[in-house]
Amino acid sequence: MKKSRFAGLTLSAALMLSGVVMMPADFGGQVTAEAAKPGNPAAFDQKVISRIDADRIYADVHHLSETIGPRVAGTAEEREAAALIRERLESYGYEVEVQEFSIPDTMTGHLATSNGDEVEASFPSGSAETPEEGLTAPLYDAGLGSPAEFTAEAEGKIALISRGGFAFREKIDNAAAAGAVGVIIYDNSEASGPPNMSIGEDAPLPVAGIKKVSGEALLEDVVSTGGTVTLKVDAITGQTSQNIIATRAPKHVSNPDIVHVSAHFDSVPLAPGASDNATGTATALEIARVLKSYPIDKEVRFAFVGAEEIGLVGSAHYVSTLTEDEVSRSIGNFNMDMVGTAWENATAIFMNTLDGQPNAVTEAALAAQDRIGTPSELILYQRGASDHVNFHEAGIPAVNFIRREPGTAALEPYYHTPQDTIEHVSKERLKEAGDLVGSALYSVIRKN
Ligand code: BES
Ligand code: ZN
Repeated sequence: MKKSRFAGLTLSAALMLSGVVMMPADFGGQVTAEAAKPGNPAAFDQKVISRIDADRIYADVHHLSETIGPRVAGTAEEREAAALIRERLESYGYEVEVQEFSIPDTMTGHLATSNGDEVEASFPSGSAETPEEGLTAPLYDAGLGSPAEFTAEAEGKIALISRGGFAFREKIDNAAAAGAVGVIIYDNSEASGPPNMSIGEDAPLPVAGIKKVSGEALLEDVVSTGGTVTLKVDAITGQTSQNIIATRAPKHVSNPDIVHVSAHFDSVPLAPGASDNATGTATALEIARVLKSYPIDKEVRFAFVGAEEIGLVGSAHYVSTLTEDEVSRSIGNFNMDMVGTAWENATAIFMNTLDGQPNAVTEAALAAQDRIGTPSELILYQRGASDHVNFHEAGIPAVNFIRREPGTAALEPYYHTPQDTIEHVSKERLKEAGDLVGSALYSVIRKN
């Protein structure tokens, strides 16, 4: 059985019932006389927010997104981020575990025309591979790639298909049924890079994705001149990613409750991942620094996870390593993912839960907001798509803290693009997230 109530909450609820009015704390770094009274939770909040340092968080966002750059699962850059996180946590005195795990194969490849032009392309996982020397064939213009658009002419050719209308996999299956030997899908709207496509597993043909302009160029330069293209697709096998887990257990408490803070440090290809998710990583690191020696009576674990962007793989691995007993002692997961965008419309902090229901973590955050006066609106919202999913599925109350636009729930326009850079990250909002989650977390784990 899981415990659903936090000690800190009970205290603030009791104060509210007894008619004590909590004044918002003074943010000048000063502890007000009211806040300093023993037993006043606002004094504990001040211990956190007076020390959360926005400059440190920002510097780490800079290091992760600018110095290291895109941190795709399985790459050297992802490992470099993991090494940075590990060293930092060790320097704070945490007991740090490195978990290494395998990730699904990813694809790499190459596309060129018989005119000698290289075409920038993406190669989706699940694509078939080509022979070592690649596949050289004429192109067949298959329109949107519906069955009616394939004639006997497609046989032995590489189908050039426009995105849109229906699923990528249907287009690929239709091409295979018509006897095509490969598929190139071109985008149907302008984008800065070739599309990141989800085509499912074990596709029947090698597949590449290209930009709209590249597709139009192939129609003109290759299809209409009867030229050929050479497509090469290879699987990169045996890759691994890492989780970095920092633990601090209370002294003199046996079998303590456990609270997990999580943040993914990987990014999608080509995106520096400043907002997604250097912000969550750097803010969780700062919370770990601030809480490194405060007295606690619960166990806290900071789980910095890799391979989120390829399907929440790192957090799934982490949760799978918890024993049944550890799961039953787990009372919450604060997942920090995209907490510092500067996008002006993202004025609210969403608390995404998988079932859209409040839980012990949303309650702790709301209580903290009440005490410290977090300026942004906190909105409870039903959404998965981040690492809280795996904690939730293990039965642990879990919340993804994420900045969005109220009403539409939209994310910033730079999301998963090369424009996800530090230029679009707000130091003030990083501080706000650090203060909120730091105070809520400390209210749960602190020694009363
Ligand atoms: N940082 C996002 C979080 C997110 C949450 C995005 C909710 C959109 C909505 C996360 O890194 C992400 O991009 N998630 C993927 C799904 C995941 C299972 C690969 C997404 O939403 O496309
Ligand atoms: Zn993402």
